Order: sequence, then C-alpha cells, then structure tokens
Amino acid sequence: MRRRYRPPFIPSSEITDEKLWRDRRRIIRAAGIAGLGVAAGGLATLAGAFSGRPPGKGKGNAGAGSEALEPTPWKYITHYNNFYELGTSKSEPAENAHYLKTRPWSLSVSGECEKPGILDIDELLRLFPAEERIYRFRCVEAWAMVVPWNGFPLSDLLKRFQPTSRAKYVEFRTLYDPERMPGQKRRVLDWPYVEGLRMDEAMHPLTLVATGLYGKELPAQNGAPLRLVVPWKYGFKSIKSIVSIRFTEKQPRNTWNRMAPDEYGFYANVNPDVPHPRWSQKRERVLGTGIFAEKRPTLPFNGYADEVAQLYAGMDLRKYF
Ligand code: MTE
Repeated sequence: MRRRYRPPFIPSSEITDEKLWRDRRRIIRAAGIAGLGVAAGGLATLAGAFSGRPPGKGKGNAGAGSEALEPTPWKYITHYNNFYELGTSKSEPAENAHYLKTRPWSLSVSGECEKPGILDIDELLRLFPAEERIYRFRCVEAWAMVVPWNGFPLSDLLKRFQPTSRAKYVEFRTLYDPERMPGQKRRVLDWPYVEGLRMDEAMHPLTLVATGLYGKELPAQNGAPLRLVVPWKYGFKSIKSIVSIRFTEKQPRNTWNRMAPDEYGFYANVNPDVPHPRWSQKRERVLGTGIFAEKRPTLPFNGYADEVAQLYAGMDLRKYF
C-alpha cells in the first residue's frame, strides 16, 4: 500500500470552514482562555487544546517537538485518504464519500464483558460529548499530518460495558455493506477491515474515538461516524467506520497483518529504527507543506514516547513490530 505523494485537488469552496476554525482559535488564544471548555456550534466541546497541551499530562497534544507544528489544512486531511472501502487511491475516498450513509448506524459491544449491548450512534454521541485533541498522525507510508480531532477517550466507552478479567484485547470491525462501501465489491482486502489493541493500549488516555474534525462532523472519507485514533501507532491501526467492538482473550488478527504478515505487525508502534521491508521509516513527509512537502525525522512512538513507552517495557520491539 504505497504510492507516490501527489497533492490533492481541492475546490476553493472547501476552505471556508477551516478558516473559521483558525479564526476562532486565534481569538481564543488572544483572549488567553486556553484550557477552558468552549462550545463549538453545538457539535463539540473544545477543551484543553489551544494551549497545545494534552488533557492530563506531559508535552503538547501533538507530541514532542510539536511547538512548531500547525494543524494540517482541512483539504489535505479530507482529500488524501486511505480508506479501501471507498477506493484504493488517495483521492477516491473523498469522491465516493456520498455512498457512505451513516444513518442508521449502531455499535455492538460484546465478548468478555459483563454488560454487552448495542448503542445507536445518536445515543452514543449524546452519552460521550466530544472534546478537541490535536494529534500527530503518521501513516505507515511515511506521510504525516497534525489533525484537530473531536472525540472522546475510548476508555470511557469501554468501561460502560464492564470488561471482565478475561478481556486481554479489544477487536474492532468496520461496517460490511458493499452498497454503502462500494470498494468492498472487489476483494482487495479480506472484508470487513479488522483491527485490535491490547487492553492497556485501548484504555490509555491518548486513545481516542474520533467523531469529528476541525469542530465539524467527521467526513465519510475520514471514517464517519466513528473511528479509532491511536496517535503513537501507524495510521492503519486507526480503523474507520466501526460497527463492532469485541473484548477477547486472544490477540485478534488485524487485516493488514493477515494480508502481509512480514510487512505489518500487530503492534505497529511508530518506530524510525524498524524499517518497513520495502522502505525506511526514518523520515516522513508532512502533508500541506508545499509540493515538495517538508521531510522531517520520524520520532519514536510518533512523539508520544513519554506517555506510552512504558507500555512496552521489556518487549523486543523489532520482533513485536
Ligand atoms: N480503516 C478502514 N476501515 N479501511 C481502511 O482502508 N486505512 C487505514 C486507516 N483506517 C483504512 C482504515 C490507513 S492505512 C490509514 S493511514 C488511515 O486509516 C488513514 O486515515 P485518514 O484517511 O483519515 O488520514
């Protein structure tokens, strides 16, 4: 899954919302009220994001060395995508976004838990109000972005279903519906897309369920109505358009690992020292920084080592890549 980077074509009509978001951000900064909750058009609560610090602890939300990083323009985040259910090129997910109707939609939660159940998407959005989290995002294909997500910690959602002590992993599945996801008419992947996390990774405060972008509803091509965001892992772990979550005792087989086990592991932690068999992971291209997009060094755990390295203490990260 790797192609040469080509900047996307963007109609100018798409740029307005981002300008509003940036203006609002400037005003809030100037007013010195960073860190206070701010209602954003009824859609989301923006909290703790404008200071560039994560909710809770440590360095900037966007990871170490993020001071100089500006959020990637909306047009790149929404027109340079990987979403094989809507097409295998970078531009097709935006072109085919209209196929992906996100109502009705429900999430089923099952497996090793006391209270399995099904949540309707609108009930879920009501129960778990979104806050803003500005995260670095690093694709395994060596491009990177800084994304102002709206969402809530996955742990808040998982706790509601009371996982038992047998729950060691969490498995996630994308919708299977070739009418709404026409890419599934071709067997380019073994559908539906599946991903997994170890329980402690799933419960980590950085792990997010994203439901929006730039203070707006999540565009279909970015995985509406809800997707995972695990900022210290390669982008393929961040599964889109989720319909099922299952607590398991055994490690789930994730889709890319099944497709090419030598190239894509289960852990997929961003690691400049472990090359992909076909390319180096030492550097990354930052989308939206010009035709010859800026290249910068890739950081261990994508800049979140202070927060997450201890999860892997004692593990050989070359073996568990
Ligand atoms: N989820 C599903 N269901 N299908 C996909 O093809 N692609 C993954 C991930 N989640 C993918 C997916 C990959 S390879 C990446 S890099 C990110 O989504 C891209 O997210 P973005 O398009 O929002 O940048």
